[in-house]
Amino acid sequence: MTNDPKTGCNRCVTSNIYFRRANSKNQMNILLLGAGGREHALAWKMSQSPLCSQLFIAPGNGGTLQYGTNLPFGVNDFSALKLCCIGQKIEMVVVGPEDPLVNGVYDFLVHDELLKDIIVVGPSKAAAQLEGSKAFSKKFMQRQQIPTAGYEEFTLENFEEGKAFLQQHSLPIVLKADGLAAGKGVMICQSHTEALIVFEEMIVNKQFGEASTKVVVEEFLDGIEISVFVLTDGKDYQIIGHAKDYKRIGAGDTGLNTGGMGCVSPVPFADEVFMQKVIGTIIEPTIAGLHKERLVYNGFVFFGLIRVGEEPFVIEYNCRLGDPETEVVLPRLKNDLVELFVHMHENTLGEAVITYDEKAAVTVMAVSGGYPGDYEKGKEISFTEGEDKAQDILVFHAGTAFNAEGRLVTNGGRVITATALRNTVSEAAKAATEAISGIEFEGLFYRKDIGYEFE
Ligand code: AMP
Ligand code: GLY
Repeated sequence: MTNDPKTGCNRCVTSNIYFRRANSKNQMNILLLGAGGREHALAWKMSQSPLCSQLFIAPGNGGTLQYGTNLPFGVNDFSALKLCCIGQKIEMVVVGPEDPLVNGVYDFLVHDELLKDIIVVGPSKAAAQLEGSKAFSKKFMQRQQIPTAGYEEFTLENFEEGKAFLQQHSLPIVLKADGLAAGKGVMICQSHTEALIVFEEMIVNKQFGEASTKVVVEEFLDGIEISVFVLTDGKDYQIIGHAKDYKRIGAGDTGLNTGGMGCVSPVPFADEVFMQKVIGTIIEPTIAGLHKERLVYNGFVFFGLIRVGEEPFVIEYNCRLGDPETEVVLPRLKNDLVELFVHMHENTLGEAVITYDEKAAVTVMAVSGGYPGDYEKGKEISFTEGEDKAQDILVFHAGTAFNAEGRLVTNGGRVITATALRNTVSEAAKAATEAISGIEFEGLFYRKDIGYEFE
């Protein structure tokens, strides 16, 4: 038997591999796919479960190592994934990012004779189109009468018609590349001239490659955004939390869009009345729609919402947890997450009772100098007063790695985030900002005003 350096698994794949059917009593070997702060938070949470035996993370980061074994293969390397599942007797695969889901990792696992008994947390390829195709998700919402912005879709075939449509559209105009564009495919245009240029860039010059050969042109909605996270088996669901993300690089929500510079949870305006509207007009019709349309869904739904006046509208669906939303949602979730995944698998999610920490959670992300533009990697990271100098501070790594000398270095745009739990959002924001100020690396930048409007 040889050990594969990529998967950490034995290459000798024998036919006597035996997967136990996991149930609420069994301990399981779990594989988590991904490498960000979201995955560090998931690893932290899942490793606390008595149902988790060994935890593997592929590829993981400098922080996930604290909770399991990092394996050096990418999230879209399905053959390495298969070898790993067999070699490490994996019984649960939790998929962090959207890419492998849109590429069909769920279907790959459940249709493989040797892997089909693994619990997969993530939707099927067909259902992942809710995130993978803006046009698909808009049509789904139309069919299910879920409130969202009005829209039209265009390709090269009806390009001229699209130009005419843009010219008479009210301002601002929202243009969205249909496919995945690493969070960069949405443009909000303030003039018709700008919209026409962006439209041509996307469709004719394929600014986002194949992802922008189809473009969704959408009505602009003016309001406050909030993200709600649900775990579903495609029939039942549980809300596991909600959060507000600060997407812009600069203080006061200015400058370029990023993957997320910080988050707060709970969101003070998401009161009982608002959340009941979200449940009644958005969450329940979505889950019922998935069921009616036979879209196989065993995983998280990320509802990207906007409150216009008092009413919630869907801006987008994602088929995964958010990052850095996970870094505030999971610290507040009291339930055993692995147990919830087993409920999901056994179609007993309806029986679970979700409990949250009453405290507020705020996370503040430290990023590399230059991000979201070009930035350098490999900067040594140090903690001036130790990683967890204050009580109730959780440090989650995003883009970190250990270099050849065994030192922790930066390895991405978003590097590391500190989450604080306190009695109020403003206390938590203060504590998280203070905690992140205890971390140093060349070029480090963070927003000092996360949660500013909830003083
Ligand atoms: P998306 O990738 O669809 O989440 O869009 C990224 C961001 O663009 C959202 O978080 C919003 O801030 C903004 N956005 C998208 N669609 C709209 C819209 N119809 N009206 C206003 N803002 C939007
Ligand atoms: N923070 C936004 C996202 O995860 O898509």
